[in-house]
Amino acid sequence: MKIIVSHALYVDVIYVTKEGDLKTLGINNYEKQLDHWLTPHPKKDPQTKEMFTFGSRREKPYCIYRKISEDGVMGPKVDITVDRPTYMHDLCITEHYVIFQELPYVYDPEVMQTSDHEWIFHFADGIWPRYGFLKRNATSEDKIRWFEFTNQSFFVFHNANAWEVDKDTIVLYCCIMESNTKKDGSKYIFPADFQRYDIALNFEISWPQLYKMTFDMKNNTAIKENISSNINGDFPKINEKYMGRKSKYIYISEVNRDNKIKSVVKYYLDRMKENRPYYKRFEFGTDIFAGEVVFVPKNDDKWATNEDDGYLIVFAHHEVIDKDDPKKIDSGISYVYVIDAKRMISVAKLQLPTRVPYGFHAIYVTEKELLDQKP
Ligand SMILES: [Fe+2]
Repeated sequence: MKIIVSHALYVDVIYVTKEGDLKTLGINNYEKQLDHWLTPHPKKDPQTKEMFTFGSRREKPYCIYRKISEDGVMGPKVDITVDRPTYMHDLCITEHYVIFQELPYVYDPEVMQTSDHEWIFHFADGIWPRYGFLKRNATSEDKIRWFEFTNQSFFVFHNANAWEVDKDTIVLYCCIMESNTKKDGSKYIFPADFQRYDIALNFEISWPQLYKMTFDMKNNTAIKENISSNINGDFPKINEKYMGRKSKYIYISEVNRDNKIKSVVKYYLDRMKENRPYYKRFEFGTDIFAGEVVFVPKNDDKWATNEDDGYLIVFAHHEVIDKDDPKKIDSGISYVYVIDAKRMISVAKLQLPTRVPYGFHAIYVTEKELLDQKP
């Protein structure tokens, strides 16, 4: 039996009361402007306070760009032409652009119904990843510029950051999963030093690793390079005060063979060209696995002096294996870890009264943002 679950993505509004309780206010449809789903990963410009998002749909138009002003007004729909419904999960912003990713991981229920394929998306043959650059204030897609990674096939859930190096060069950091399937259906054999595991090979997609993309706006070319140092991981995080601007650090959740998060890895982007280690790892310890980290800057109101002045906060679970049934994991102890992002060491580990499930994650809002909520 195959079960297809659809997750509605309209915007639910929750109010945090002075007492710390939560009150559901209902659905925000932006004065009836919003009639489609939105990505779970909108991007907020820390300087202009504008928010950038899009809707990914199964019917035409398959992608709709939306901009939301600082005071919460949603701008007009901007249809982005893509030829088919694909898995569009995230986007990027720079100072002047919003960046869309059209990847060859296509929505195709027919393949799922008529074959052994277990997933409603699959890598399509003969179409290549494309990245579209649109000016943030555009009200139509007329001047969008697309960059193609010809003869490649990959998928991206999450982007870390992007910025304009100069007027002709834009860089984008993201976690890429390469397609493992050749056109003739056979599997790619990855070099032994390119860390890939059986489970990934069986799932037609590799484990995610950190990549740097460089877009040459003058010559219309795009390249990508694997900068992961063979670390498998996703859920990239930055200090969001640097969203869309040059940032020096990316924090990745590293996964093990069972796809559980065993550590957080900090990449020092500025050190990559130098001959010295450019990442530092914080490990949760034996049988302790975590979720997605949140970066919390030390200073809410001012631009932090140093980008990594802050903490990584994350929920983790200390698994207890049933001695009689090693496949069974009893509910163990859950913790909140507070990790000093500069030194990558734990400064607090708080035991929680109840188990927190894997996948649970959160955002950080400042006290001012809480006080500024509109009931
Ligand atoms: Fe996501």
